[in-house]
Amino acid sequence: MNENTIPKRYTITSALPYANGPLHIGHIAGAYLPADIYVRYLRLRGRDVAFICGSDEHGAAITLRAKKEGTTPRAIIDEYHELNKATFERFGISFDYYHRTSEPLHHETSQGFFKTLFEKGEFVEKTNEQYFDEEHQQFLADRYITGECPKCSHPSAYGDQCENCGSSLSPTDLINPISTLSGKPPVLRETTHWYLQLDKYQPWLEEWLLEGKKGKWKKNVYGQCSSWLKAGLHPRAMTRDLDWGVDVPLENAEGKKLYVWLDAPIGYVSATKQWAKENGKDWELYWKEQEDPADNARLIHFIGKDNIVFHCIIFPAILHAHEGYILPDNVPANEFLNLEGDKLSTSRNWAVWLHEYLDEFPDKEDVLRYVLLSIAPETKDSEFTWDDYRERNNSELANILGNLVNRMKLLHKYYGGLVPHPEGIEEDTSAQGVLDELQVLIGKVAENVESFRFRDAQTEFMNIARLGNKYLTDEEPWKKWKTDPEAVARILYSSVQLIAALGILAKIFLPRTADKILDILNLSAFPVDWKNLNSRELIGAGHPTKVPEVLFPRIEEEVIQVQKDRLEANKKVKEGEVQDQPQAQVAPAKEEITFDDFQSMDIRVGTILEAAKVKKADKLLQFVVDTGLDQRTIVSGVAEHFTPEEMVGKQVTVLVNLKPRKIRGVESQGMILFAEDSAGKLHIVNPEYAVMKGSVVK
Ligand code: MF3
Ligand code: ZN
Repeated sequence: MNENTIPKRYTITSALPYANGPLHIGHIAGAYLPADIYVRYLRLRGRDVAFICGSDEHGAAITLRAKKEGTTPRAIIDEYHELNKATFERFGISFDYYHRTSEPLHHETSQGFFKTLFEKGEFVEKTNEQYFDEEHQQFLADRYITGECPKCSHPSAYGDQCENCGSSLSPTDLINPISTLSGKPPVLRETTHWYLQLDKYQPWLEEWLLEGKKGKWKKNVYGQCSSWLKAGLHPRAMTRDLDWGVDVPLENAEGKKLYVWLDAPIGYVSATKQWAKENGKDWELYWKEQEDPADNARLIHFIGKDNIVFHCIIFPAILHAHEGYILPDNVPANEFLNLEGDKLSTSRNWAVWLHEYLDEFPDKEDVLRYVLLSIAPETKDSEFTWDDYRERNNSELANILGNLVNRMKLLHKYYGGLVPHPEGIEEDTSAQGVLDELQVLIGKVAENVESFRFRDAQTEFMNIARLGNKYLTDEEPWKKWKTDPEAVARILYSSVQLIAALGILAKIFLPRTADKILDILNLSAFPVDWKNLNSRELIGAGHPTKVPEVLFPRIEEEVIQVQKDRLEANKKVKEGEVQDQPQAQVAPAKEEITFDDFQSMDIRVGTILEAAKVKKADKLLQFVVDTGLDQRTIVSGVAEHFTPEEMVGKQVTVLVNLKPRKIRGVESQGMILFAEDSAGKLHIVNPEYAVMKGSVVK
């Protein structure tokens, strides 16, 4: 598709959140706010858009949670579907439809996809052995099996991945696997599943994605896809042994459900169908190839980076295999948002929950929208802090945008609230300069939104307010009122044009503020339309305005201190407390060993001399340790727990006779011991008082 042609219509999706928990600011900054900005912009331009989302109501996490809480998956999804749907609405995320994957229409639709793939011979049926928890009488999802990593010996790797060394694993690779459901070793049982032959699509994906999207998709997205493709695709099971989900629509498939990552993206299609049904639309116009390719909808998926492979490789392969479906034109996935120096975490309650924010900060939706967009992790991980939140409200929203609007009190002081007639404005070069610059900035907002640079778009929007403030400060109408009232009329007339433009553009970023500004300008009844922005006169002389209200009251330190204290408190509560997540249980006991087994380990107290990050490995630190015997290099997966600086000089306990092994190209000679608490946090293990290096631990 030519980048410059305007598509007939747009299908915009945001990742369907799991209906097993509330939404936090990380979700919002990743997949929802950017999508909403994009959609609001498109609507302002009069484009035909379907903005689709809904609850993802299947998957092992929901079943397990129900099990643990002694309730049903249905009870959980009903609760969170309602909560999340209402929360999005309160926050102004303007979905056209918020569907749910437990609806019959979705079950039918996803079964239809499965059947088509089956009939086309896209699956291979394979029987193999998988881990089964005898106590719970169920097969175990990869994440619910832990054991020792075969590559780095990390004691609690997951069935799909070792978080210590980053290797991707399958459950049968684990040494001494344990079911996190029962804490007991699982047994192997035969089971049959349908595998999508992803390898078959490799050549097509290389062409469509690697060649077709090069330079078009964001680097982080393209890079992840290209490493998947370089590693080579393999058949992937599209069914699971579960008792909650969409039934596999085949005769001999009792007890089998569709893999949640097969059914969930199809949820976009079923949601569109339901929306179309209720609104007299034709869903196929939003999903199917049209006779004239120029009539195709432009499909854009907004997601977080953990969803890339599903949206860029697996789902497109499925759509491609169906023939006749459009494919994603772009997938502007975001990186992750952190909170006050730590990863957002549902299980550790390290989060700002959106519904709680909305309860505690009434009428401040737009402040959070503004802050989250300002720090959106578009190209790299970023961080939310309450200090920054307050600072951006006070010194940007209040001091720049709020201040400019507030200055329209001058209209009331001088002209009874009416927009003055700007006698001689054609010859007024500074007024003309401001109106020219306004057009340039409007163009920049559009250009940035169209290229998915939403942070920059918002900055350009604020630059319009900066422009207005600077203009008023430079021109000082309050000083000219006595001597040159005609100049004052031109200055205020031009300023009002800027504010009207801000009111319209705020519809994209700050919808509630937009309504307030337009109300102050008495423009609520006028059609808010991009076309008006191209006019140099948005509001004519004689138009009445209202006395401006304060748009962004200052936020005081005490208010955010409450939030900071709360986070700090739950950090303390959570440390050392047993968690309800699988990874947070006390690790099960290991098998008995002999005294000789223990004696064979040479453990010493050493001192860390140097510490550094390992290049291109986020989790690894590389140390030089003085073990008393020698000085050696040791690599540990602790970069998320300690900074290199804080480790230097520390005494640590080291297993010194562990066979050296290469980790990310660095030879690691031994292992530093850490204690992992139930929250997954690591602590240094060292003697109560410093001892001589080389001291033996026995
Ligand atoms: N529920 C998934 C998650 O939160 C996202 C599903 S996106 C969809 O990671 F495409 F599958 F719907
Ligand atoms: Zn490992």
